[in-house]
Amino acid sequence: MVSDSDIDKAVAILKRGGLVAFPTETVYGLGADAANPDAIGKLYAAKGRPADHPVIVHLAEVAQLPQWVREVTPAAQKLAQKFWPGPLTLILKRAPGVSDAVTGGQDTVGLRIPSHPVAHALLEKFGGGIAAPSANRFGRVSATTAQHVMQEFGDSVDLVLDGGQSEVGIESTIVDATGARPVLLRPGHVSAREIEQTAGVPLAAPHGGSPRAPGTLAAHYAPATPLMIMEGDLLLELAASLPRQGKRVAVLARSALQPLLSGLTWIAAPHDTNAYAHDLYANLRALDAAGCDAILVEKLPQQPEWAAVNDRLDRAAAGSRPPSAS
Ligand code: TXA
Ligand code: MG
Repeated sequence: MVSDSDIDKAVAILKRGGLVAFPTETVYGLGADAANPDAIGKLYAAKGRPADHPVIVHLAEVAQLPQWVREVTPAAQKLAQKFWPGPLTLILKRAPGVSDAVTGGQDTVGLRIPSHPVAHALLEKFGGGIAAPSANRFGRVSATTAQHVMQEFGDSVDLVLDGGQSEVGIESTIVDATGARPVLLRPGHVSAREIEQTAGVPLAAPHGGSPRAPGTLAAHYAPATPLMIMEGDLLLELAASLPRQGKRVAVLARSALQPLLSGLTWIAAPHDTNAYAHDLYANLRALDAAGCDAILVEKLPQQPEWAAVNDRLDRAAAGSRPPSAS
């Protein structure tokens, strides 16, 4: 667990331009001083992330907003009041002086006040904004434990604060709140419905003028092993037939019955949406580590409460080809 002196050490590292990974309620973040472009440069290098991708600035409290944004729209005000601290990121018009290193050169900045007590203690003691993308190498599976962060980065991070496993398990909901009607840029634990209800206006569809959210690229959150999503019956068939062709298969399934076969890595995923999300990245990492030829994931219900998890799974699968097509 994290002590006061760990927090002091982390603050000192951030102040001198170093990198500190820290837990949030969504996933672990790889943090740098958001007011120090050199530190953010290090962050991009460690992640292997292209420089035009904006990063989220994390704050301890709403009183810090005016340093980062020049306009808080009525929708943003309502959303911040309801969901902060928590798993929601708001995109707003940036204040003068906010560095291009943070915004990727856009006129907007992404902000979040996380609720995790370690993140909060760090942000409060640091006093400024902490730029923090998810603590994974670019395009890969996000980290929900300190161990996963260390596996991703080794020595290229100065300190990893271990605050246990992230509660939510998937990245924050991102809402462009620059206009009269909010735009959902990335689904998350805070649902589209909750956003509409709180903002009091319907969501607008993403349009050409919306800020880019490059981390929402089609292929993202991907294990190294090819990953395919399929219905339970097809999954059972493939899980039985591929091993006979000498292929090793890893499975993430909620309801399908596990065939009694050797050479099969099988994770029984939770039925509940929140529990599924909580375990998702640890499960993908475990399946990836099994070193199989393919990861088969049982298709989930296409319902609003599964939107965020389906979004992550679809992106994890986007770069993969079926093993039989080889
Ligand atoms: O839950 C989370 O949001 C985690 C934790 C650490 O807070 N962070 C996270 O950061 O997921 P990252 O960098 O992996 O994803 C942030 C996404 C990216 O898709 C980025 O392009 C988008 O937010 N983003 C950041 N600032 C933006 C802006 N000004 N306009 C549009 N998209 C923005
Ligand atoms: Mg990310």
